[in-house]
Amino acid sequence: MKKLLFVFTLVFVFSCKKEPEVVTNVLVEESTYSTKDLGKELFEGKGMCNTCHKEDTKIIGPSIKEISKIYRDKKASISVFLQGEAEPIVDPTQYEIMKANLQITKTMTEEELKALEEYMLSFK
Ligand code: HEC
Repeated sequence: MKKLLFVFTLVFVFSCKKEPEVVTNVLVEESTYSTKDLGKELFEGKGMCNTCHKEDTKIIGPSIKEISKIYRDKKASISVFLQGEAEPIVDPTQYEIMKANLQITKTMTEEELKALEEYMLSFK
């Protein structure tokens, strides 16, 4: 019995010792995962924005670079637009197509919208 207890204690001490290492790893991973990375993930994942917006070329929607340039020049906010609280300034004649997507972005958190904005504005 005593032997068994000793083994348990050893296992316990060992597992306690290991914990800080694991925590450090998680922290390192988090610090390299930026807001922009989250934006990219949403743009290509949940938002499915990349089906209509490519980096350089206009397909169904204007290119990300075009949107980014106009928003930077006019100092407008993409996240406000994505909440459905601002008028379109890039191509108002095609707004109906974009408007349908606001149903998705309106359900996103402020953090997610900021991430999408940061990701799009990073194209110059
Ligand atoms: C079905 C195609 C389609 C999808 C999917 C789509 N867009 Fe668009 N988007 C458009 C079109 C078309 C326009 C041009 C109309 C306009 O300017 O509002 C546009 C315009 C925009 C604009 C400029 C709005 C302005 O001020 O005129 C932004 C910002 C934008 N899209 C972001 C996004 C984001 C973020 C997503 C993903 C959540 C997304 N789009 C998904 C078609 C799409």
